[in-house]
Amino acid sequence: MQKICAALKRKGRTIGFVPTMGALHKGHLSLIQQARKDNRTIVVSIFVNPIQFALHEDLKAYPRPFKKDIPLLQKENVDFLFYPQAEKMYPENFRTSVEVKVMGKVLCGVSRPDHFCGVATVVTKLFNIIQPDAAYFGQKDAQQATIIRRMADDLNMPFKIKVMPTVRDTDGLALSSRNVYLNSQERQDSLVLSKALGLARELIRHGQRNALCVINRMKALIRTKKTAKIGYIAIVDSRTLNPVKIVGNNCLICLAVRFGKTRLIDNLLTRGE
Ligand code: PAF
Repeated sequence: MQKICAALKRKGRTIGFVPTMGALHKGHLSLIQQARKDNRTIVVSIFVNPIQFALHEDLKAYPRPFKKDIPLLQKENVDFLFYPQAEKMYPENFRTSVEVKVMGKVLCGVSRPDHFCGVATVVTKLFNIIQPDAAYFGQKDAQQATIIRRMADDLNMPFKIKVMPTVRDTDGLALSSRNVYLNSQERQDSLVLSKALGLARELIRHGQRNALCVINRMKALIRTKKTAKIGYIAIVDSRTLNPVKIVGNNCLICLAVRFGKTRLIDNLLTRGE
């Protein structure tokens, strides 16, 4: 893959790269479509990265509908699919990782302390293999997107990181490969997430600037659903992930909530609300 990409670059072809863990949905397809608009060649990777899962997490159960993913990529005219084996990415003598400091320890990092180190490490490896001109990530994974942007800047990675809007089901649930785990009651209850974010937007639009008040109203709404167990709800600066007391522009209102065994995340970026 590295040789193929190097040869494409020598020919002056721009490469748009979409890293994924497979189980593709419309959110991934929107990234591929943007990559297609911006670049001559599109590379997609499918790799369920073991080092971003903790031992008790869903690495084994993570959906791998590889046969269903392929036609979706063909339909989008993806030029190359890179699907390495875990043993090739992490051979026995693998010893190096990318450390993500404080931004990887807050929000989702509290319950998943090694997750973002695993993400940053695999994404760096993939970037070094593909050598893209631009790489595409979803706003749904806002903390991941912020960390990767920061990492690309901090480590002088010479390409653009583009973050595309969250794609939602018609009823408002943010698309995620993990939504397939939800039973029908949990799926129904999970709609409270986009409703809570909508409530936050309305409160802010009507002048509420106190972050704690917004968070408390969101918590109260989410707690009306029996299957919901709040992990966190936070309002942070979207560039630093530091908590804010007063909601202004460029704040990220983000949450993680468990429905049964399934942990869902969602967020809203404030821009002149
Ligand atoms: O967002 C994902 O699917 C993964 O975290 C990524 C970026 C492909 C790294 O494994």
